[in-house]
Amino acid sequence: MSGVLIGKPANLKGTVKISGAKNAAIPLICAALLAKGKVLLKNVPQIKDIENLLEILRRLDCKVSQKRHRLRIDNTNLKYQPLTFEEVKKMRGSYYLIGVFLTLFSKCEIYLPGGCNIGKRPIDIHLDAFEQLGFSYKIIQDTLFIAKEKELKEVSFRLKNKSVGASLNAIFAALSLSKVTMMNTLFEPEGKDVLTFLQKIGYSIRLCSDELVYEKKPLEFRMISHKMIPDRIEAMTYVVLGLLSGKITVCNVCTEDLELPLELLRKSGYDIVTENKKMIATCSRGSGMNIITEVYPGFPTDLQAIFGVLCAFASTESEITETIFENRFQIYEDLHRVGISVCKENNKILLKPQKFSSDAVVFQAKDLRHGAALCLLGCALFQDVVVENFEYVERGYENFIAKIQSLGGNIERINEKNK
Ligand code: EPU
Repeated sequence: MSGVLIGKPANLKGTVKISGAKNAAIPLICAALLAKGKVLLKNVPQIKDIENLLEILRRLDCKVSQKRHRLRIDNTNLKYQPLTFEEVKKMRGSYYLIGVFLTLFSKCEIYLPGGCNIGKRPIDIHLDAFEQLGFSYKIIQDTLFIAKEKELKEVSFRLKNKSVGASLNAIFAALSLSKVTMMNTLFEPEGKDVLTFLQKIGYSIRLCSDELVYEKKPLEFRMISHKMIPDRIEAMTYVVLGLLSGKITVCNVCTEDLELPLELLRKSGYDIVTENKKMIATCSRGSGMNIITEVYPGFPTDLQAIFGVLCAFASTESEITETIFENRFQIYEDLHRVGISVCKENNKILLKPQKFSSDAVVFQAKDLRHGAALCLLGCALFQDVVVENFEYVERGYENFIAKIQSLGGNIERINEKNK
């Protein structure tokens, strides 16, 4: 267990460079196993989730070498192995190995993947898609056993619900078939980046609206290099930090992937300027917002807690509705603890900013975005704050502490035992 201590707020100033997107990096690394030839991935974030995934790949005899943000993957000697509890419990994204294994080895045995505590997170949409593609499965004591049952050539089906993960996993599992048409798919910018990579390594894939068509062609041996997109959630985290405290220039971003959150900020009167691949956020007090999380291009669920903290400092009330995950409201319990009036009704939060209480506070991160939101709260409150379980934040944010320190932030790692 690790924690951070955040001291009295500093006037943060400077530039922060955004890393590659976690939710693109995980499926891209899994997709690299499907290449015929060596792969060089660029702009790979140095985060715990990627470290864990690379450990799994090494055990499967896949050669991986990482130099800063460049990752070389050589899958020549990749071998089949069941994926164990220890390996997959730490990261939900390990479920992408199921689809990859089904194409490469026609089978997969995997402990049901873990991840953040943000809801039930079933994988029924993935499993339904695998069945449509000719695989059958059983689950025994939380371990999934799945293997090819029917040798299908052409398949056309509809994903039973919208899912980021299931859409990618289904295409990973479909690549040994001759022709597959999948309807009701969902590819957010990170998923689209993975489709671009699959096309680069030679898979013939067309996406039109939410319908994806794959046609098998012989794969040629190719050396592929691919630079992954920047992390839009990390980018917006630092924007919110700038709006709460100081003036932060956030660079290396795709502002076009963030249109809706940016529009919300502008409409609420926050001082945010975008230029080319930069966003400049200056401390300002806007009015409350009405936020409803939705699939892309709607408001991202991954930003909901982070914007929740901003809303706590706004001049008027906010209403926040979460429609994607059922358990993403932990931050509002913390805001309530520091004096904000929070009223929860089903999947809706009504937040009334009030005077903050001033005692030193110890918070506990319960998931990645909750942890980041708590750190932002800590940077904005006029008191010392401790955020425990900081390892959640390290799963998805590269050099979080160092980036905030470089802006002048009073944040340091503490050993929770010595606190
Ligand atoms: N769902 C099901 N059955 C399934 C799959 C999903 O009921 O088989 C439900 C989920 O429980 C959820 C909803 O459908 O309520 C949407 O889930 P989706 O499959 O779209 O999301 P995901 O693949 O589990 C990815 C990201 C999340 C991000 C969401 C939405 C990864 C590893 N995770 O999750 O990222 O919030 O898409 O953009 O890519 C994060 O980065 O903090 C994070 C949680």
